[in-house]
Amino acid sequence: MTALQRPWLNKQLPLEERVETLLSAMTLEEKIGQMWQVHDPKDQHDQNVREGRIGSFLNVPRDQLARLQRIAVEESRLGVPIVAGRDVIHGYRTLFPIPLGQAASFNPETVRLGAKIAAREASAAGIHWTFAPMVDISRDPRWGRIAESLGEDPVLASRLGVAMVEGFQGDDPAAPDSIAACVKHYVGYGAAEGGRDYNTALIPESELRNVYLPPFRACAEAGALSFMSAFNDLNGVPTSGNPHTIRNILKTEWNYPGMVVSDWCSITEMINHGYACDEAEAAQRSIAAGVDLEMVSESYRNHAAGLLRAGKLRQEWIDDAARRVLRMKFVLGLFDNPYPAPATPEIFLCEPHLQAARRAATESCVLLKNNGALPLSPSGLKRVAIIGPLANAGADQVGCWAMDARGEDSQTPLAALRQSLPSTVVLDYSPGVPSSRSVDTTGFAEAIAQARAADVVLLFLGEEALLSGEAHSRAFLTLPGSQQQLLEAIAATGKTVVLVIMAGRPLVLTPVLPHASAVLYAWHPGTMGGPALADLLLGKESPSGKLPVSFPVMEGQIPAYYNKRNTGRPPSDESRGLPQGTPLDPVGFSANYIDGDHLPLFPFGFGLSYTRFEYQNLTLKSSDVRAGGVIEASIELRNAGSMPATETVQLYVRDLFASLTRPVRELKDFQRVTLAPGETRVVAFKLPAEQLAFYDNEAKRHLEAGDFKLWIGGDSRCTNEAAFRLLA
Ligand code: NOJ
Repeated sequence: MTALQRPWLNKQLPLEERVETLLSAMTLEEKIGQMWQVHDPKDQHDQNVREGRIGSFLNVPRDQLARLQRIAVEESRLGVPIVAGRDVIHGYRTLFPIPLGQAASFNPETVRLGAKIAAREASAAGIHWTFAPMVDISRDPRWGRIAESLGEDPVLASRLGVAMVEGFQGDDPAAPDSIAACVKHYVGYGAAEGGRDYNTALIPESELRNVYLPPFRACAEAGALSFMSAFNDLNGVPTSGNPHTIRNILKTEWNYPGMVVSDWCSITEMINHGYACDEAEAAQRSIAAGVDLEMVSESYRNHAAGLLRAGKLRQEWIDDAARRVLRMKFVLGLFDNPYPAPATPEIFLCEPHLQAARRAATESCVLLKNNGALPLSPSGLKRVAIIGPLANAGADQVGCWAMDARGEDSQTPLAALRQSLPSTVVLDYSPGVPSSRSVDTTGFAEAIAQARAADVVLLFLGEEALLSGEAHSRAFLTLPGSQQQLLEAIAATGKTVVLVIMAGRPLVLTPVLPHASAVLYAWHPGTMGGPALADLLLGKESPSGKLPVSFPVMEGQIPAYYNKRNTGRPPSDESRGLPQGTPLDPVGFSANYIDGDHLPLFPFGFGLSYTRFEYQNLTLKSSDVRAGGVIEASIELRNAGSMPATETVQLYVRDLFASLTRPVRELKDFQRVTLAPGETRVVAFKLPAEQLAFYDNEAKRHLEAGDFKLWIGGDSRCTNEAAFRLLA
C-alpha cells in the first residue's frame, strides 16, 4: 500500500477519523489480531506479525522488539505498529520505594516524579506501556501484593494513582519519554479472601462503588490510556468476563475511551473458575464483557471469528475492541514514530534520578517508635554495630516487581552509613542470619559480640524481596526466620537498639516493640534506600512518612482497616483484652476480641517525627452546608520541637446517621506542611459537600441531609473534632 492509500497516517486528521479510516480498512482477522498480546518472540510470531495477527507484545527486549516492529510497520498489509508493554511498577533501573512505601509519603508530587522518571528510563529501553498503577484497595497485609498497592484508603489511592498516571503519561503520551499507564487490577483483586492471592472477592455494590472503584474512576478521568482486568472473581463473576464492571460501569457509565487488557491468561483461567466450559466460551464471555486485548492466552485468536460467524458475538464488540487498541496506538504516536529513539543508557541511574529516588525513600519511611534514641548524634559515637540481613542487601531493598533493577546499583544502608558517619567512628557489620527467612543461628555469636562492643546497634530486619509480591501471601506476619530471636539476643546485651524494618507489607510488630528503642519502617526503599536511611538516622532529615495502611496487633485482627463501620455493639475500649466478669455476668457483649485488642497497633495515617506537632483551634467557617456548598475548616499547626519537619495534616469525616451505615471515619483530604521550629501555620481545607455522597446497593448515589463530625489531625485517631450539618 502506498502512503496515499493509508490516510490514517495523515497527522492532520483528527484522532477519531484516523482510527475509523484504519478500522474500516481492516479484515476481521486483522481486527482480531489487534486483540492478542504475546509474550515470547518465537520465530513463528514473525509471520503472525506480518499477517497482522498480533497487536502487542509484553516483556520483549528492545532489539527483538525493533525487529518485530519493522516487520509490523513495513511488511504487514496495513503497517499497524506493535505496542510493547512491560511491568515498570516502581522504577525501571532507578528503583523508587515500593508503591506502598511511596504511598506513605502522602505526596502526589513525589509519586508523580517517580513515575515520570520510570517512564523516561523505560522509554529509553523501547517500552511504550507500563502495567501500573495498581490501585487495588488493600486491607489485608497477608496479601503479598499489598506491596504494589497504594494502601487501604480510597482518597489516598485515588490521589496517588492519578499522580502516577500523570507521571507516566506526561502532558503528551506521544512524547518520546512518556509511556501509557494501565490501571489495574479491575476490580476487587485486593479483597482476596484470607489475603490469599487470586482468591475470590465478595464485595457488595455499595462497597464496590464507595471504596474499590473510586481510585479507578479517578485514574480513568485523569486520562489513563488503559485498564487491566483482574484474575479474581467478584461476587461469583470472574472480573475478566464481567460485563457489569467493564462494559456497563467502565465503558458506558464512565464513558471511558481507553483500552482494557486482560491479566496474564485470566481469560482462559475462567475455565478453572468454572465460568467457561472451554476456551471458546471464555473468549465469548470476555469479548462480550468488554476485554479488548487478551494477554498471552489464545482464545480470541482461536475462536473469535468462529463465534462471530455462529452469532455468539456481535460485530460491534470486535470493532470496539480493535478500535480501542488502535486508539491507544495513535495516542502514543506509534503510527508517526514507531521506532524507539536511539538508546540513551546514560539516563539510567543518572544523578537527578538517584536524587529523586533518595527523596522518595526519605519521605516514605515511617517512624513508629522513638524513646529518644533517634536521631543519633554522631559526635557521641565511637563504635556502631550494623547488624541484620537487610543492612547490605542491594537486591532485596528494591523489593518486588523490580525486573530491570540490578542489586549492585543499590546504595545500601551499610555503604551509606560508612560514608555519612565521621571516619573516627568504628563500624562493625554482620548479617546475623544469612537471609531474612533463614533459621540458621550460627551468625548470632559474631553479631552479639559486635553489639556488646558498640555504643549503639543499628539493626536491619524484615522481609527480603521474595516474601511479598504476586503469589507471595503470608499467613504469619511476624519477622520471618530467626530474626525475632536475633533481635532478642541483641537486645539482651543491654545496648540501645535502633531497628530499621524493610518489608513489603505491614508486619506484626507486637513482639518487636519491647526490644527496640526506636523503630523506623522503611518498606522496601529502592535503589537509594541507604542514603535516605542514613539521612534519617543521623537527623539530617526528620521522618515524615505516615502509614497508608493500618498495622495489626496480631494476624487475628485482620482486616484492621480504619474506615470500618461501627456495628450495633461497638467495641469498647474498656473490654479490651482478657474476658472480664463471670460466666453468668460477663462484661462486654460488644464487638471486641476476648483475648486481644480490637484496635490496630498503629492506625492508618500514623507516623512520628523528630519534632512535636501541636494542633489547636479547629474552626469551621459555618456549621451548616448545603448541597453544592463547601465546608471550610481550618486548624492551627505548630512545630513545637527544635527541628524543621513536615507533617501530613489529615481531615476525616463521619456521617452520623444515613440510610446505609457509614464508616466511623473517612479520610477526605490531606496536606503536607513543612514548618520551622516554633513556627505556627493555619492549615485550611475546603471540602465540597458533594464528597459526602455515597452509593447504596442499587448503585444509587445519595447526598443525605443530616449531622456529620469532622476531625483534623495527624492520624486517623486524631481527636480535634467539630460538628456540622448538611441541610436539605
Ligand atoms: C500478572 C500480574 O497480575 C499483572 O499485574 C502483571 O502486569 C502481568 N502479570 C504482566 O506481567
